[in-house]
Amino acid sequence: MRIDIITIFPEVLKPILNESILKRAQEKKKLDVRVHDLRDYTADKHNKVDDRPFGGGPGMVMTPQPIFDAVKKIKGRRKAFVILTCPTGKPLTQKFAKNLSKQKNLIILCGHYEGIDERVRECLVDESISIGDYVLTGGELPALVLVDCVTRLIPGVLGKEESLKDESFENNLLEYPQYTRPANFRGVKIPNVLLSGNHRAIEMWRKEQSLARTRQNRPDLLKQK
Ligand code: ADE
Repeated sequence: MRIDIITIFPEVLKPILNESILKRAQEKKKLDVRVHDLRDYTADKHNKVDDRPFGGGPGMVMTPQPIFDAVKKIKGRRKAFVILTCPTGKPLTQKFAKNLSKQKNLIILCGHYEGIDERVRECLVDESISIGDYVLTGGELPALVLVDCVTRLIPGVLGKEESLKDESFENNLLEYPQYTRPANFRGVKIPNVLLSGNHRAIEMWRKEQSLARTRQNRPDLLKQK
């Protein structure tokens, strides 16, 4: 998959993209991620990419020209799914990430300032995405979140495909608790069932734990069933 990210802070993104699983995915040629500085596309002689909002009000709005030109140039003749990160977008979910992981080309626009000229959304953007009900200073962290959760779903990126099977949000449930050695850590013991060797009993315990955890922390997920 190729992902192009358009941002006014390219340096913020690079360290995360060049570590750990994202780095490995690029080395394995499963992911080709490119970061573009929006200012490289502005026609403004002072390199501006924002302006005051029509109708007045606080803050600045990202102007359409550099964004339109950047997307046109980056897209070329390829088909690409264009995503805008902004707090007014649809909530990012595992289901949406799964669908995105099947795309060949993604372009992510990192929103900023008080917002983005609405014509960008009208004419260029396929989906606006929010990563939660809170407001960040910019769309760079959400863009990284999106790249991260989509990349690990690309076949061949994670070592063992099974590690995707039981994880949180599969079947609208949160993942069960996990333990590793030692079985007794400073007096805190793991549940006996995990030492029993009884695979059916372990599976049942895990299901119960998943359900209890979901009921406790995310009852909304159970209602979605
Ligand atoms: N930009 C600022 N806040 C955001 C959020 N919660 N999700 C996506 N983009 C954002």
